[in-house]
Amino acid sequence: MKLAVVADVHLHDLYGGYGWIEQGSGEIALRTVQDTMASTRVFNESHAAFHAVLEDIVRRKIRDVVLLGDYSDDGQPGAVAALKRILSAYETEHGLRFFATFGNHDCFGPEQRHQDKWMTKADGLAPRLVTSDPRSPAINAVVRDGMIGMSTPDAIADMARYGITRPEGVVHWETPFSDHGGVQQRGCEDHAADGLDASYLVEPQDGLWLLILDANVFYRLDGRWQVRSNAAWDHVLDRRPYLLDWIADVVERADRTGKTLLAFSHYPALPLAMTVERGLTVAACTPDWLKRMPSLQSSRALAESGMRWHFSGHMHVAGRVELDGLINIAVPSPVAYPGGYVVVTADSGDPACECVRLESAPGFDAAFPAYSAQLRSSGKAAVGTEALSVPDYQGFLQAHQKGLIASKYMPQDWPPELLKNLDTPLAQMLTDVPRLAQEFKDRPPAAGLCLGQVLEDYYFIRAGGSQTIGALPEDRIAFYRRLGSAVNAGDEACLPIERMAMLLAALL
Ligand SMILES: [Fe+2]
Repeated sequence: MKLAVVADVHLHDLYGGYGWIEQGSGEIALRTVQDTMASTRVFNESHAAFHAVLEDIVRRKIRDVVLLGDYSDDGQPGAVAALKRILSAYETEHGLRFFATFGNHDCFGPEQRHQDKWMTKADGLAPRLVTSDPRSPAINAVVRDGMIGMSTPDAIADMARYGITRPEGVVHWETPFSDHGGVQQRGCEDHAADGLDASYLVEPQDGLWLLILDANVFYRLDGRWQVRSNAAWDHVLDRRPYLLDWIADVVERADRTGKTLLAFSHYPALPLAMTVERGLTVAACTPDWLKRMPSLQSSRALAESGMRWHFSGHMHVAGRVELDGLINIAVPSPVAYPGGYVVVTADSGDPACECVRLESAPGFDAAFPAYSAQLRSSGKAAVGTEALSVPDYQGFLQAHQKGLIASKYMPQDWPPELLKNLDTPLAQMLTDVPRLAQEFKDRPPAAGLCLGQVLEDYYFIRAGGSQTIGALPEDRIAFYRRLGSAVNAGDEACLPIERMAMLLAALL
């Protein structure tokens, strides 16, 4: 049994511009290079990347595909219509079947959400703000209905045929609200609009159960609905406690009837990096990541339900973590480094999960002339210039990631007293920490790396997982492990350099 898991496609409406340009006119609607380089995902390349993923799935003769949320740019009808055109083509021409769940970018609770984006046409010049809000104060704003973010009821209706309602030709389908399928009831909490839950269980292949959990919980803040995308599973378990009972019941039935059970939701079920401090398992993440991870209490509750394999998106990274018998596979996005998806093979024993990286994505550089024009007209050395001189899509994502590390991740995650040393060899910095100075008296060659390189390695490893580790020099990884062990051998890591070493080692 084989299955493809595709997370965070974030399809941008390249050929429709959310209603700004006419579909099929030959025009393209592009996000700007400045927006692209500042974002944790690339936009204009999403069409080429999604096609490359689907072509690879077809080449591998895989039929069933899970879309693990954030399939759209920001839940706009224009983006979802573009996505569905692609899904329909692959259903018709190649027999693919898609099973979807929602991410925090696909729907916004009981009400629609206004969206706006700066966009240009192919020449890259004269950006316009395309908005769904007729009251937008922007000068020369272009108002289009296709830009508004869908409500959850809209999204359930729009994506119904992708597993949200019972698909034709499946052996079994049910929801938490129905006994063994059929009843299309999606409400909880007295059917309040914010209680809609699009979770379902489907058996697309004999013996393979996909438990697809809707983990979008909403709350009202400052007059509008917000999704609980940080520590999402904490909020899911708080607001949808019946899900744990349902999971446990599904696990019991799967065990009893010999089904292979794989669970999916948009959000991590475990912290994506953990370590042991003073005998206790703790999350090992930078502050921005830490607030996005579930608590270990939620993680353990999910593990206790009997769920063993869970696949998550949201963080746009590849990885595998395990706690109390629950394994969380982080599925990368096609539109952020490392750029790929996951193939699951479940024939006997534990499922095998292969992270497939996109080396190429034909047509990914359609926006490059526009990017160049924008960089030229900006008149200054802008972040992103390096990303335009790459030979392939993988190189583009690497350059994009490198720019983000320097401009966003490092300044947000580390104090100035650490960042002022980016060009300092690590060996020199270790002399300031007596215990580590003693440990590394032998000065291994990798200790000659500058702090900036080590931090860059941290972020690349955090995103790319085992494949990125495998691509780095062995002696460097051995040094990072040794450094982590030396830090962990002492009291709690308190200096920024010790903290960094601990976080890095937790990924290895
Ligand atoms: Fe995403």
